[in-house]
Amino acid sequence: MVHAAELIRRKRDGDELTSAELRELVLAYAVGEVPDYQMAAFCMAVYFRGLSPAETFALTEAMIASGETLDLHAALGRTVVDKHSTGGVGDKTSLAVGPIVAACGVPFGKMSGRGLGHTGGTLDKLESIPGFRVELSAAEFVTQVREVGLAIIGQTGDLVPADKLLYSLRDVTATVDNVSLIASSIMSKKIAAGADAIVLDVKVGDGAFMKTLDDARTLAEAMLELGRRADRRVVCVLTDMDQPLGHAVGNALEVRETLATLRGQGPPDFTELVLDATGHLLALSDLGVDGDEGRARAAAAVQEGTALEMYERWIRAQGGDPSEDALPVAPEVREVIAPRAGHVTRLGAVAVGMTALHLGAGRRTKEDAIDHAVGVRCLKKPGDTVDAGEALAEIHARDASAAAEAANEVVAAYAIGDEPPTSRPIVLETIG
Ligand code: URA
Repeated sequence: MVHAAELIRRKRDGDELTSAELRELVLAYAVGEVPDYQMAAFCMAVYFRGLSPAETFALTEAMIASGETLDLHAALGRTVVDKHSTGGVGDKTSLAVGPIVAACGVPFGKMSGRGLGHTGGTLDKLESIPGFRVELSAAEFVTQVREVGLAIIGQTGDLVPADKLLYSLRDVTATVDNVSLIASSIMSKKIAAGADAIVLDVKVGDGAFMKTLDDARTLAEAMLELGRRADRRVVCVLTDMDQPLGHAVGNALEVRETLATLRGQGPPDFTELVLDATGHLLALSDLGVDGDEGRARAAAAVQEGTALEMYERWIRAQGGDPSEDALPVAPEVREVIAPRAGHVTRLGAVAVGMTALHLGAGRRTKEDAIDHAVGVRCLKKPGDTVDAGEALAEIHARDASAAAEAANEVVAAYAIGDEPPTSRPIVLETIG
C-alpha cells in the first residue's frame, strides 16, 4: 500500500525518493489508487524542490512501466524516427514534418499530446480534421507505420497511461514548467513508442516553458541524458518561441497553414524549422545521408508534391478527410487594425496563445471541449512594416463579442516602433 501523503511530505521537505518509491506512487496513480489531489500536491512539491537526475530517470521508467511499450525497430525491421516539441504557440511542426519524412522513405511513428496551458497540442489540431482518429491501438499504430509510413496517435490507454493522466493534471495545477516533469513526460512517451532516433524541438522564449537559452539547454541536456540511458539517438534543436511560429494559432487554422507549407507556400520561419528538423531526422535514419542531403531531399519532397500526397494518405488512413474545404470555419472573422505606422518590433507569443485559449482553442480545465475553428492569424510579424489602419491580425471567433475582446488582447500583444528590431533566427542552437 503506497503512503502517498508521506512521499509528498518527504518531497516537500527536499528528500530524494528512491526508484522503488517513485515507481509505487506512479503505478498507484495510474490505476486510480492515488487520487488527483494527492498527485497534484506531489507535482507542486516537485515544482518547488526539483528531482535529481536519478529521480527523473526513475519517474520516466515508472511512467513507461504504467503501460505497454513498443519496439518499432523490431516490428518494422527499420530505423524509425520521431520528433517532439516542448510546446509553443502556433507549433504545428509535426503535422508537416511527419509527411515529409515519410515521403522521403523513412518510417515516422509518433505519440502526441494535447494542448497544455497557452500552448496548442498536436492531437487537438489533428482532431479539427473531420473523422480523424487519434486513438489507435498499439497494434493499429504499428500496422499503419508499416503500411503507410506514418502514424501520429494519442497516448492510448495502453501506452504511458500515467503520463496521460499527469499531463492533463499538470495543465490545470500550474505544474507544467518544471524541467524534470517536462523531460520525463516527453521522454517516457518517446521511449515507450519505440522510435530509434528522436529530434526534440526545445522551445525558448516568451511563449515557451523555457524562457532563456540556459534553461532550454538544461532541459535539452536532461532529455539527452534520458535518451542515452534508454539507448536512443537524440538531437535537440533549440528554437525561438518569442513570437508565435508562422502566422496561424488555433487548431483548424494551423492545419490550413500546414497544408500551405506542404504546397511550398508556408511562412518563412515555419518552413525553415520544418526543413531543419526534417534534415536532422533523415540524417538519423537508415538512409545514410547527412543533414544537408536530408534537408535537400525534404525540400524536393515539398516541391515535387510527394509530401502533400503522403499527408493525404496519412489523414485518410486515420479516418480523416484531408481536403482543406472539410476543415471547420469560424462564423466571425474580424481584423485587428494597426494603431500607427512603423515596424513591428514585438509580438508576444503568450498573449496570442492566451487569446486563442480565451476564444476556445484551448482548455481552461481538463474537461473543457475545444472549439477547433477559432484562433488568431498574425498577418504581421516582428520585422514587418505596417501602415496605420492596416490589418495586423485576423481573429476567428464564435461570435462578435468574443472577436471584439480578442481583438483588444491581440492589439496589445503587438509593439510598433520607428526602428526595425534585431532579427533572431528560428533555430538558435543544435545539441546532440
Ligand atoms: N510536452 C510534453 O509532452 N510534456 C510536457 O510536460 C510538456 C510538453
